Amino acid sequence: MAVKSSRKDGGKRLVQSRLQISSRDNLTECTKCGMTYSPSIIDDTTTHKNYHEMHLKGKKWPNTWGLGILLTSSNDSSRLTPPSSSSKMGALSARDERIIMVRSDHQAEVRTTIHILDIVNSELHAPHNENEFWCRPNSSGRAFLYVKEDRAVGVLTIELLKPERCRWMIYEDRSIVDGVEPRFILGISRIWVCRTQRNKGIATRLLEAARCNTIYGKTIEKWAMAWSQPTDSGGKLASHYNGVMHKSGKLLIPCYI
Ligand SMILES: CC(C)(COP(=O)(O)OP(=O)(O)OC[C@H]1O[C@@H](n2cnc3c(N)ncnc32)[C@H](O)[C@@H]1OP(=O)(O)O)[C@@H](O)C(=O)NCCC(=O)NCCS
Ligand SMILES: [Zn+2]
Repeated sequence: MAVKSSRKDGGKRLVQSRLQISSRDNLTECTKCGMTYSPSIIDDTTTHKNYHEMHLKGKKWPNTWGLGILLTSSNDSSRLTPPSSSSKMGALSARDERIIMVRSDHQAEVRTTIHILDIVNSELHAPHNENEFWCRPNSSGRAFLYVKEDRAVGVLTIELLKPERCRWMIYEDRSIVDGVEPRFILGISRIWVCRTQRNKGIATRLLEAARCNTIYGKTIEKWAMAWSQPTDSGGKLASHYNGVMHKSGKLLIPCYI
């Protein structure tokens, strides 16, 4: 099977990259999710069905899972809902759309989120083993999900950054600025929204939720949220969300290595 996608490394477009070749005969390409697979092979068909559904519509997510975050009309005031003894989601349980923080001590939530991230990493051609910072009990990192109509349709994982990893990147040519040591706080490890829900502001709302809720009691400045090797669409999102115009006229994106 193969998935057409953009790459995480340097944002260069990949025409096609093979994950696994089942059969060279009788391959078909799904026009909706971009996967190439062999319909005559049961494993291939099943893998395609799972990938297709996730890629387009996200993954089923029970409404009792996760710690709810209050979504307000003003982007920059998302806050965790106060703990509720009757409902884990507090006041948000009745809403169709909500943002939740994955509880790292709840195995089912962690497992399902890792499953979502597997699909994301396949699309991004990114490593599948970068979850430690959010999925262990008492981790300093976080995973946030955007849940809409009982499906997790967007995901964002955030890590805390050490100063030596932080860099400015020039947006237009993706080059790293030498000789400057910026100090960013949060690293955007993965951000993804399922295909049918893109361009509705979901990624921006996830970023705002993370900005206000990753470090308890502290809201991080937008420019202190750094990107890890942004893809083409990630770079565009970054340029809208927290690109900084340098006096040279060049747009800078906070990044980390
Ligand atoms: C990148 C991604 C997460 C954006 O999600 P989204 O929910 O569609 O983003 P938003 O709707 O919040 O977009 C916010 C702004 O960024 C812009 N933007 C986001 N993605 C864009 C794209 N691919 N092309 C052009 N502009 C884009 C939007 O136009 C919007 O600006 P506006 O408010 O002025 O209209 C989504 O396209 C995605 O999942 N892509 C595949 C995974 C990926 O590449 N992730 C990035 C890894 S670094
Ligand atoms: Zn498909």
